[in-house]
Amino acid sequence: MHDNFRNNIIWQKNTITRIKRENKNGHKSILVWLTGLSGSGKSSIANVVEAMLFKHGVNTYLLDGDNIRLGLCSDLSFSLVDRQENIRRLGEVSKIMLDSGILVLASVISPYKCHRQLIFDIVGKNNCFEVFVDTPISICRKRDSKGLYKKADSGEIRDFTGVQSIYETPEAPDLILDGTLPLKKNAEKIIKKLYNKNIIPKFKSME
Ligand SMILES: Nc1ncnc2c1ncn2[C@@H]1O[C@H](COP(=O)(O)OP(=O)(O)O)[C@@H](O)[C@H]1O
Ligand SMILES: [Mg+2]
Repeated sequence: MHDNFRNNIIWQKNTITRIKRENKNGHKSILVWLTGLSGSGKSSIANVVEAMLFKHGVNTYLLDGDNIRLGLCSDLSFSLVDRQENIRRLGEVSKIMLDSGILVLASVISPYKCHRQLIFDIVGKNNCFEVFVDTPISICRKRDSKGLYKKADSGEIRDFTGVQSIYETPEAPDLILDGTLPLKKNAEKIIKKLYNKNIIPKFKSME
């Protein structure tokens, strides 16, 4: 039996704190969570944002939903229970990375409101900036860069978001991006918000 083993685990306070790391870095850490349909442009936009931040000396990491599913979460399916566990692990990893002073970008379909809420609950809403990449499904289907809509239509993939499985549109995201606009334009919108929220310093190119 497991008993109440959790009662016997006590948080260890470390000397080097998140604030110390942020001060050393010269920027704050936050989780930029990009949600949207498959093919909406989450990974592409996050990749451009990260490249811009990296160029200006911001310590970043991009957690891409697909990459995480090939490693940390490779044991999980797309059932509701496994999708939730996938999100929980992403939340816990993000929380550690935030504590390490890194500005984390996450590009994850995360179709369910309750799962996005789980992320906010794990990392704290103040630590999370929700970006909805709003791209009509007709455009996502036309892009179909990985051929997944085609596979879902033929039944080769089941539980595919937007086909057999729903996407719940965020009600009050911090930012809505029109996913049909040029990548750079959308990336700049995120960078600007991060500056306005006092997360990153002003870059010369913003002046
Ligand atoms: N304006 C645009 N913004 C983002 N992606 C675009 C745009 N126009 C075309 N694409 C293409 O759409 C495809 C899907 O983007 P991706 O970032 O993989 O989406 P997601 O990560 O949301 O599944 C990519 O091949 C990308 O190059
Ligand atoms: Mg992607």
